[in-house]
Amino acid sequence: MEAIAQAQPNIALVKYWGKRREGSNVPATPSLSITLDSLWTRTRVRFDSAYERDRIVINEKSEPAQLERVARCLDNIRRTTGTQLYADVESRNNFPTGAGLASSASGFAALVAAACSALGSDLDAGSQSRLARMSSASAARSIFGGFVVLDNAGPDPAATQLIGAHEWPLTVVVALTSTKSKSVGSTQGMVQSATTSDFYDAWTNSARHDFTAAREAVLSRDFQALAEISEASCLKMHGVMLSTRPALVYWNGATVEIIHRVRDLRSRGTAVFFTIDAGPQVKIVAEPGAVDAIRHAIADIPGVIDVVPGTLGAGARTITRF
Ligand code: PMV
Repeated sequence: MEAIAQAQPNIALVKYWGKRREGSNVPATPSLSITLDSLWTRTRVRFDSAYERDRIVINEKSEPAQLERVARCLDNIRRTTGTQLYADVESRNNFPTGAGLASSASGFAALVAAACSALGSDLDAGSQSRLARMSSASAARSIFGGFVVLDNAGPDPAATQLIGAHEWPLTVVVALTSTKSKSVGSTQGMVQSATTSDFYDAWTNSARHDFTAAREAVLSRDFQALAEISEASCLKMHGVMLSTRPALVYWNGATVEIIHRVRDLRSRGTAVFFTIDAGPQVKIVAEPGAVDAIRHAIADIPGVIDVVPGTLGAGARTITRF
């Protein structure tokens, strides 16, 4: 009863930040994301009647701090599939964990996919997406590849694929500006924003409009419209974060300088835009062929540690090699 799965982080272009009060970990707003191909989590899950508890190893280290959240995810899987067995979970990332690169999204999507496969369950992708959402709402989206939507309507929403990775193969360059874990995690940060930011209601009230417009832009392959909506959604979310008390300042100096360079590159004719999650890393989205121009535009910024180019990738799936 063992399986290995791989999932990739996804980056929201229309972001969610905040949860609904009712339901099990349901976002307060709808979101639209792209699944990456260059970064990945691989997770091996083994269920065995000899185990007396769940165990988790991440990047070859035992992680007691993560165990409670992982065990809760396994509990939901056990409840849904009707097993009582405990699991041994081993996971590795090819990128820094907890640094604003959506490691919880790829991590929980890979965990759900591997656990379901190990148990021989025939849960479809929608059901796996619901299970992933209960542990990390953004993980619901990493079950699918390409462009993905997570509409928050209904009591138990799942993500769905809007179009596949090959249907609009955009370039995504991840600019790494720190490898440190963020000081305030997204779950806690969202609660603080919902209870203290004067901008929070405006953020949730305007999200559906952004979501619908972004969906249209993707379906009509309108890069310019998607660029405008995505940057606006990102900056609005960071406006909410900055107006939270105590303020959530996830950016560093390099983050800000990259924003300026991307805007400058666009003003000189390159189809490109930026987006930033709860951390200092910047993801730069472009039409194919822009990697060299992007590299050239940001390489000399002090504090840029690494520039990782990639494209859009597939959803969570079982693999044979860990
Ligand atoms: O669901 P979480 O806890 O991984 O939070 C994700 C929050 C953002 O990445 C900032 C936005 C988003 O929609 O992914």
